[in-house]
Amino acid sequence: AGRRFFVGGNFKSNGTVEQIKNIIETLNKATLKENVEVVIAPPALYLLLARELIRPDIKVAAQNIFDKGPGAYTGEIAAQQLKDAGIDWVILGHSERRSIFGESDQFVASKTKAALDAGLSVILCCGESLEEREKGITTQVVTRQLGAVADLVQDWTNIVVAYEPVWAIGTGKVATTEQAQETHAEIRKWLEAAVSPEAAVKTRILYGGSVTEKNSAELAKQPDVDGFLVGGASLKPAFIDIINSAP
Ligand code: G3H
Repeated sequence: AGRRFFVGGNFKSNGTVEQIKNIIETLNKATLKENVEVVIAPPALYLLLARELIRPDIKVAAQNIFDKGPGAYTGEIAAQQLKDAGIDWVILGHSERRSIFGESDQFVASKTKAALDAGLSVILCCGESLEEREKGITTQVVTRQLGAVADLVQDWTNIVVAYEPVWAIGTGKVATTEQAQETHAEIRKWLEAAVSPEAAVKTRILYGGSVTEKNSAELAKQPDVDGFLVGGASLKPAFIDIINSAP
């Protein structure tokens, strides 16, 4: 569909200095398919190290920011500070932030706006719980989550959407290719109506949730799957195979 394939690696709260260096060394030596946009997201502590060591064609993302500051916000990192440090991307609205730290749709939207205003690009996550899927309200849930952002942000040029069904994250239970394609198509339809026809055509929609080198090629073939947000497997050499499974 003319959208550049995108693969993000979300290290979550994993790694040591030595392990991060090893992962980066493996990536630096790898032959990666051209024209795949690759972004790695180590814990905040290792962002500068990663940016220094990683090959120039791979970008670095933070896993969170605060929607205010710089200022008196102990423990937080402001969007401008990431930008200043040469970090170009941030993951926002990950389901672990929503469920463990109680982040609301509005808070995620406010952070997204702050990030974009500071010149960052955003991997914006959405996704339903198992209970919500079983109730048949997946589309309502993800469009409500994304809708809070659309209320504040009209220009989605620097947003990549990541659809991550909560029941598939870290569970080894990957969504079927049909389930992923169906929800991605719903998100694209929603983008057309709620943001713009241009945003619907251009916005990359990634799938996340138990992506491995074994299931990535099949998922990547789906017309509305424009890449992946990889958790566990991004810490392993298999991440390279996932990147190279781009069609
Ligand atoms: O951000 C990544 C997702 O939460 C997926 O994690 O690949 O370990 O299931 P996972």
